[in-house]
Amino acid sequence: MTMRLIKDGVYAVGVIDWNEKHFHGYTYITKRGVTYNSYLIIDEKVTLIDTVHKDFEEELLKNIKEIVEPSKVDAIIINHVEPDHSGAFPKIIKACPNAKVYGTEKAKQGLLKYYGICGDWISVKLGQSLNIGKRTLDFIDVPMIHWPDSMFTYSAYDKILFSNDGFGQHYATNKVFDNEVNFNILMEEAQKYYANILWPFNNLIYTKLKIISNLKPNVELIAPSHGLVWCKHIKEIMQKYLYWSSHSCKNRIAVIYETMWNSTEKMARKIIEGITSENVEAVLFDVTKNDRTDIISYMLDAKGWIFGSSTHDSEMLPVIAGFLYFLKGSKAKGRKSFAFGSYGWSGEAVKNIETTISNITSFDSSLKVIFKPTEGELNKCFEAGQIFALKIKNENNKTL
Ligand code: FEO
Repeated sequence: MTMRLIKDGVYAVGVIDWNEKHFHGYTYITKRGVTYNSYLIIDEKVTLIDTVHKDFEEELLKNIKEIVEPSKVDAIIINHVEPDHSGAFPKIIKACPNAKVYGTEKAKQGLLKYYGICGDWISVKLGQSLNIGKRTLDFIDVPMIHWPDSMFTYSAYDKILFSNDGFGQHYATNKVFDNEVNFNILMEEAQKYYANILWPFNNLIYTKLKIISNLKPNVELIAPSHGLVWCKHIKEIMQKYLYWSSHSCKNRIAVIYETMWNSTEKMARKIIEGITSENVEAVLFDVTKNDRTDIISYMLDAKGWIFGSSTHDSEMLPVIAGFLYFLKGSKAKGRKSFAFGSYGWSGEAVKNIETTISNITSFDSSLKVIFKPTEGELNKCFEAGQIFALKIKNENNKTL
């Protein structure tokens, strides 16, 4: 997103981080970069919504200065305190000494802990609003979308929902609106973002979507703090959020494995052949060769998950072990799985896969092969894939 007027009196003043490829430490691979969006509303009270990452504080200040003297900013709204949105706050509050600062009580605590300052603070919550002239800004606290402090801000005058992390995409672009970019790429990034950031909060999101769809007048723009502003495709993204947050799935299967001497890989390939013979969509992921971010995104609405690992020192292999620990945090529901793998003498990997993620998926009986699979054992892998695909097909799934 680049600096631009998005509605009469409302400017996008955020920044583009073209080179950010690892977000949240190393948890999210952002191949298309990142934007940190911030919005400036020119009304009787000049209002800034969110700041940006600390690395871009000078750029944000410069963008604000192109529109108004920072000393004229009357209000700063902190929708969320995570450093990608609040890192520039200390610099901005210094440059805007006349601003009152609005956010949830938890955001105030967060700012004080991170930076030791919170400015001239006013705590707000759902049902409270701020009149800034022609506009009244309504605050909607949405704890856990994405942190306990998170909130959205709605301008009924503009029909804009400032949704911070909600409805975001990690997509660096000099475009501003959803209809200026390729729709499929946009939705791919929106799904990746949901799967890797918001998935654990499905139940809360599902509840809060009702509040958003009941906003009056109806929302015309959703302006997140990452990626593009939704204008043309609001209906599509709302439907997707409803679908994802209700734990809905498609008849698709992810086969994820890590192999040592290719025996587990041979098993994986036969399993996917069996699945394919039943015309069920499936993708094979060697976890050491694919981005975890992409695999998680595919798994978000995949009904079936199959995991394989060779056994090494009585454990599963290390990359898939890390992957499963990450996946465990998703708090997914309603999935079906089975585990497989080759081994040399004891074969604990399969059992350990099941134990690690038994809280988020149910396991069918597993497949283990000593050393190298024989023809007969490979046939068994094929059959296991077939049987699993039939189970997935026959489940009564919610699909979009
Ligand atoms: Fe984009 Fe939760 O920060």
